[in-house]
Amino acid sequence: MSDKEKFAATGSAYYLPEPAYDEDLVLVDKGTPAGEVFRRYWMPVAKSDKIKDLPVQVKALGEDLILFRKPSGEVGLVYPRCIHRGTSLLWGRVSEKGIRCCYHGWTFETDGRCTERPGEEGVDGASRMTLRQPWYPVEERYGFVFAYMGPPDRKPPLPRYDLLENIPGGWEIVADDTSIPAGGAGRMPCNWLQHHENGLDGAHVPILHEHQFPPIMAQATRSGGFFEKLDDRVNGGDTTRIGPMMMDFKVNIIMPTVRVIPDPLLTNARPDGKSDQLSWTLPKDNTDTIVFTAIVRPKDAAPGAPERYNGKAWKDLTFEEHQRYPGDFEAQTGQGLITFHSEEHLFAQDKGIVLLRRQWREAIKTIRAGGDPPGAFGSNPYVETTAGAKMMANPDFVVPA
Ligand code: FES
Ligand SMILES: [Fe+2]
Repeated sequence: MSDKEKFAATGSAYYLPEPAYDEDLVLVDKGTPAGEVFRRYWMPVAKSDKIKDLPVQVKALGEDLILFRKPSGEVGLVYPRCIHRGTSLLWGRVSEKGIRCCYHGWTFETDGRCTERPGEEGVDGASRMTLRQPWYPVEERYGFVFAYMGPPDRKPPLPRYDLLENIPGGWEIVADDTSIPAGGAGRMPCNWLQHHENGLDGAHVPILHEHQFPPIMAQATRSGGFFEKLDDRVNGGDTTRIGPMMMDFKVNIIMPTVRVIPDPLLTNARPDGKSDQLSWTLPKDNTDTIVFTAIVRPKDAAPGAPERYNGKAWKDLTFEEHQRYPGDFEAQTGQGLITFHSEEHLFAQDKGIVLLRRQWREAIKTIRAGGDPPGAFGSNPYVETTAGAKMMANPDFVVPA
């Protein structure tokens, strides 16, 4: 009997096979299959208002980078090691000429061009201008700095999303970098896919969130709901009924890691029925994840209360309370730094996750074949969404006699 057969026969952990994860799907460094998919899209790397007069170190897709903002407001993103002799530009000084290295004063524009080399003016002026600090293009929108870290000739326009473009009168967009969809815990010490695929994990809602969401939302997807894979996204949804109320609930999980789900706390219903939030999951590296969220809400609304666990915000819980009232953070980081796909047993309600992984595998294949994945170069940069939670009267409700 092989160890595999012995394990099947006994279930003893002694025979548990060596665990493994799907490297193609989870690793994000340059040159890895999923890493190259990410490098065909714009990804948010920071909240705009965090980039002031001093340089800021950020990490995205396994790369350390320096963000800086010139006094005129223009933002640059460069490789941290100065091309002269390698000190970090984190210690640099920013002026209208760009970022000036603290060590010998070489200065770099937002597109990396070297504009100054103190002490060598006139020595080789022409060659000085050809030197470049490695850089990536950035653009600001919705309160975030987005970076494109892929091949320059495959750079698409930065997409616009309907729910963030046509916002109701008197409403505003609030940018958040605290990983709200994971309870507001800030960074998550786990692989990006563990968090991202949770957006299609309807099965966990009535269990993990049974006492955390309003009852009609906590009941959502108890029946499994529906899932569909389209060109650039996987959609999920369900219709839930509680007494006289009915809720039509839809999520859109759009390439690469855009999550459009209704606010699970049903805080502010938009008059147009669209979702009130859109999130981007950024892998800082293979085992460190952050979620940026653009929230649309009435201008005069009190700041939304974060999800509560036993009446407390996630960050105020003790260890024991984390155990007694676990939420998305505990569940997703509890899968480990990178979950072992070899040990999973997917069942019917995991269909959305299966479809999402299939979409990523197809994107990997497309790039290997020399193509562009959906929603990237050559796609329509205006993205329509259908996600939201519509409340209505339950037509099947019969008033008890
Ligand atoms: S190391 Fe940056 S200017 Fe010398
Ligand atoms: Fe959740």
